[in-house]
Amino acid sequence: MALAEEPSYLDFFSYLVEEEIKGRENTQKARRLKAARFPTWRTLEEFDFSFQNSVSQQTVRELSTFKFIEAKENLILLGPSGVGKSHLAIALGIEAVNAGYHVHFTTMDDLANKMYACLADGGLPRYIRSLLRNDLIILDEVGYLTLDKIASDHLFQLISKTYENVSMIITSNLDFSDWGTLFASPSTAAAVLDRLLHHAHVIVLRGESYRIRNRLVPPQKNPAGGCQSEEEDT
Ligand SMILES: Nc1ncnc2c1ncn2[C@@H]1O[C@H](COP(=O)(O)OP(=O)(O)OP(=O)(O)O)[C@@H](O)[C@H]1O
Ligand SMILES: [Mg+2]
Repeated sequence: MALAEEPSYLDFFSYLVEEEIKGRENTQKARRLKAARFPTWRTLEEFDFSFQNSVSQQTVRELSTFKFIEAKENLILLGPSGVGKSHLAIALGIEAVNAGYHVHFTTMDDLANKMYACLADGGLPRYIRSLLRNDLIILDEVGYLTLDKIASDHLFQLISKTYENVSMIITSNLDFSDWGTLFASPSTAAAVLDRLLHHAHVIVLRGESYRIRNRLVPPQKNPAGGCQSEEEDT
């Protein structure tokens, strides 16, 4: 570039500095992306808001300004299987990494297993401290597995430490009213929800699973109006 364009020393120096800064930013972004441990790559552009119309594109666009991370607020995505909870959580997480935030993704199952392993070798406080160094923790699939007393206590410990300190995105297939069944005691569930919901955006996703959208056959009209036998049905 210097040979071809013969820039001034100042322009050439500023070009070098800009390239160095870009290179460092890309390296740091790649590091943050690796540390986030996203299980798959999902983007907001891929998300079909016309299929999933219980959340508006505007709401998601507002969330992707990450004011909620700055304010240490939580985002809770609720809904049945396949409605796009993990997709939105991962896509927002990737955008947050691109915006410069430190993000960590885990499922509830992986978190519980990791905490058990850390408990065994005395590394639990260190592991929790390492999680708390993030700006955003994504906890996926809360509700599919019931937590025993130890896992319940660990999750409570984590949530009480993230409270007003580190943002979380939590996805769950359970309504809040059913969270009592998830924890070893209803009082732990109440204490967890109390902290999570104090500063939280809650989005309830409804509808059919995107996974089986093409297999959903519209109900056949029965001209006779009566009921069909099983043979007729098949
Ligand atoms: N509205 C959508 N537009 C595009 N892809 C979608 C949409 N909703 C879901 N998907 C895709 O469908 C699949 C299932 O979605 P996702 O994993 O987000 O479901 P989920 O709500 O987390 O379900 P589960 O509770 O079973 O984990 C993914 O591959 C996801 O990318
Ligand atoms: Mg999911």
